[in-house]
Amino acid sequence: MQKIVKVLFILLVAAVLVVDVAPQRAASSSMNFQVPRGLPQDLWESLIPADNPLTPEKIALGEKLFFDKRLSADRTVSCATCHDPALGFADSNAVAVGVELKKGARNSPSIINAVFNELQFWDGRAPSLEEQAKLPLINPIEMGMKDHDAVVERVKEIPEYRVEFEKVFGSEGITIDTIVKAIAAFERVQLSGDAPFDRFIAGDASAISESAKRGWELFNGKARCISCHAFNSTNPFFSDFKFHNIGVAAKDRNFSQLARKAQQLIAANKDRQRIQDELALSPGFSELGRYLVTGEPRDIGAFKTSMLRDVELTAPYMHDGSEKTLLDVIKFYDRGGEVNPNLDGGMRPLKLTDQEMFDLVEFLKTLTSDASKKRFYSLKPQTREPAK
Ligand code: HEC
Ligand code: HEC
Repeated sequence: MQKIVKVLFILLVAAVLVVDVAPQRAASSSMNFQVPRGLPQDLWESLIPADNPLTPEKIALGEKLFFDKRLSADRTVSCATCHDPALGFADSNAVAVGVELKKGARNSPSIINAVFNELQFWDGRAPSLEEQAKLPLINPIEMGMKDHDAVVERVKEIPEYRVEFEKVFGSEGITIDTIVKAIAAFERVQLSGDAPFDRFIAGDASAISESAKRGWELFNGKARCISCHAFNSTNPFFSDFKFHNIGVAAKDRNFSQLARKAQQLIAANKDRQRIQDELALSPGFSELGRYLVTGEPRDIGAFKTSMLRDVELTAPYMHDGSEKTLLDVIKFYDRGGEVNPNLDGGMRPLKLTDQEMFDLVEFLKTLTSDASKKRFYSLKPQTREPAK
């Protein structure tokens, strides 16, 4: 009898715990959203912030904002101008082009799988998708709005947004925080998985070609790519999410002078985040990379290891768009990168044969998801006519 009571008691405690825990979990998984094959469902769920749960309505609102040119000063640029789903959620320019066709200094990365980035941007200067989204809106060469109040005013002018924000955010209404929350919610479900490589890893030996299989061997062995472009079941994104100087930025020789000047400008400015963002996109200073964020001399010229899923669709490559094709990238690595005082110890000439370089490219192409490829071949690219 006592035993039964004890068992009942344990069951009761368990039930209370489940009831207690359930609402929190429901916040992220209420939509029963299933990540594509090859991506870790648990990790994805854990990356949905408690204060920004996903709902279908919020994602739809975020999508609308992401594609809305009215969020830029001259109404010609939306997030999607530079992160175009028809171009792998990146664009085909070497460096991004914003309002009034102003040129930045960095290549637009894809926002696909960006939810998995430990830090956002090539130099990691934003800690979350929400914080990231605040910056392009007010960067003078991206969307060019004067400040966040101006963005909020612009959105408030549009009657349908007033209705939709109230539906999604209730009395919070339209603020810079709810704007970026909706955009981040949309980004969190832009995922790339279920590529031929995932089917190969899951056991289908015929999913990729013999050449690609040799490329995968090289990636893990002679070519040493895996040492930075990490891959395992909990991190299947081909990035260690660390910052390395692989010699792309080394074309600018006068790093120490640039570094000093950047420090002076940052020290003299009240808004640290905003000045960092402007320096990151201005020619010259941009090449300082992670150093602009940390001020550590060893971070000069260091950039975040790119994730490699869908990389086939997002040419040109590297933080400055300096490599036109994947074969060019492999040739760059084969040379050992551009020699400079901060070059990562993992970089050295690889002595690859032509066939080996070709095999590596074939392997990289197996990381393109069917869904992304379909969008690439079926969607029309974004245009620059002003929004009405
Ligand atoms: C004018 C082109 C342009 C526009 C407009 C733009 N971006 Fe970007 N985006 C870039 C560039 C260039 C970078 C990389 C800059 C850097 O790292 O310093 C970037 C980086 C990002 C990243 C980080 C990805 C990563 O891998 O680190 C995200 C996420 C992102 N943008 C989302 C957005 C959102 C959301 C908007 C709209 C609110 C937007 N972008 C508007 C060009 C643009
Ligand atoms: C020492 C670390 C390291 C090694 C080794 C390494 N990479 Fe990279 N990779 C990076 C970093 C960091 C970047 C971004 C660098 C930049 O833009 O300045 C990058 C960028 C890339 C890009 C461009 C992605 C884009 O969207 O622009 C490709 C493709 C790539 N690497 C493939 C490879 C391959 C293939 C190998 C092996 C031959 C390799 N990497 C070896 C760290 C490394």
